[in-house]
Amino acid sequence: MEEKYLAAEKILKKYGQEHLLSQYDKLNDEKKAKLLDEILTLDFNQINELFKRIGKTEDEKNGKIEPVRCTDKSAMSKEELEHYESIGLKAIKEGKLAAVTMAGGQGTRLGHNGPKGTFDIGLDSHKPIFEILCDTLKDAQKKYGVYVMWYIMTSNENNDATVKFFEDNNYFGYPKEKVMFFRQGELPMVDTNGKVLLGEDGLIKLAADGHGGIFLSMKKNGIIYDMKSKGIEWAFIGGVDNVLVNMVDPVILGLAIDKKVLVAGKSVIKAGPHEKVGVFCKKNGKPSVVEYSEISKEMAEATNENGELKYGESHILCNLFSVKAIEEISKNTLPYHSAFKKAKFLDKDGNLITSDKPNAYKFEAFLFDAFDSLDDIAILRVKREEEFAPVKNAEGVDSPETARKLYKEFHNK
Ligand code: UD1
Repeated sequence: MEEKYLAAEKILKKYGQEHLLSQYDKLNDEKKAKLLDEILTLDFNQINELFKRIGKTEDEKNGKIEPVRCTDKSAMSKEELEHYESIGLKAIKEGKLAAVTMAGGQGTRLGHNGPKGTFDIGLDSHKPIFEILCDTLKDAQKKYGVYVMWYIMTSNENNDATVKFFEDNNYFGYPKEKVMFFRQGELPMVDTNGKVLLGEDGLIKLAADGHGGIFLSMKKNGIIYDMKSKGIEWAFIGGVDNVLVNMVDPVILGLAIDKKVLVAGKSVIKAGPHEKVGVFCKKNGKPSVVEYSEISKEMAEATNENGELKYGESHILCNLFSVKAIEEISKNTLPYHSAFKKAKFLDKDGNLITSDKPNAYKFEAFLFDAFDSLDDIAILRVKREEEFAPVKNAEGVDSPETARKLYKEFHNK
């Protein structure tokens, strides 16, 4: 231990993070060992670089931005629709499609204590979100005769609660062997001076590293291997918080196969210039999404000759990836974006610091930053009222109330 301590001390000195050992003496032996291991394995160089880049993240100013073209599902002829559907259906029936749900987020805005998928949006059935999502797989089984594999990405923070919820609810009647959980990665949080934070437990304060870490996590956790061994060639990857998500859609799958692209995404028409959604576009000729937190006012409000929003194809986090693309993307790290968040941490004197305002940075990679490694992706514009009912906030826009209304209207049809 002595040797490890000295090695850790040396690293911390090199990177100006000596405070991380300030509470060491107060820890029990188990935690002491854990903290030293954390320090010895952390990439401090990466953390320092990420801190230096805060506020300088690549944004639309650094590239030539152009609108994208999409395929509008409602403008397709009956023949076209049937064409894509039949291609997609064949692949689904051959077991080539899997569903992946990203459920590692904290759902802070919703104010729900527990994994977001366990939230009850207030339907008469009181089905939690996970069950609503599972219903789409059960429907697909009835229609297409296959149990689609369901991979669920959790975080260290919510993994155990998520798995327990599935166990307690008997996997909502879905075959247990068709559901697999895997954890996403984490990165340390830093204060406004770039100092890595110590959590309340005296260990390094880690936070989920965003859903862009999914590709690497899929590789590390053997998910890519599992998919390939089962003959799965495509994975629908979606968020946990859209109660109208269609995880088994032959049309988008058929479109991707027909257009010979490795990735496809769904869009809906943006409700207004400042709706909190990312928008599809082309950046330096490559497919891209500009996130709502990073879009400029000019870009958000720009209109075309018809008076429509120039960047009006909303990214709804319903994307389809070929396993081949996932494997390629997992070889590289995606860029990180910083987010200023409220955090509880210990200062160098061991005092617990809390704040009702953001006081620390976390770093997150976004899944859609992987798009620019591809020459092209297919974008399928779908109807909002059929496929997009997000549950983000406790009240108002994108809340349980709005999602419940959209869900009921769609299912009563
Ligand atoms: C997201 C999209 C945005 C899109 C909108 C549509 C991002 C960065 N932006 O915004 O482009 O228009 O949804 O509703 O995704 N998650 C993890 N691990 C993490 C972080 C998030 O699994 O570390 C999951 C969440 O559980 C959730 C989803 O990713 O299912 C979306 O995350 P969130 O951070 O809530 O994104 P939004 O800001 O809502």
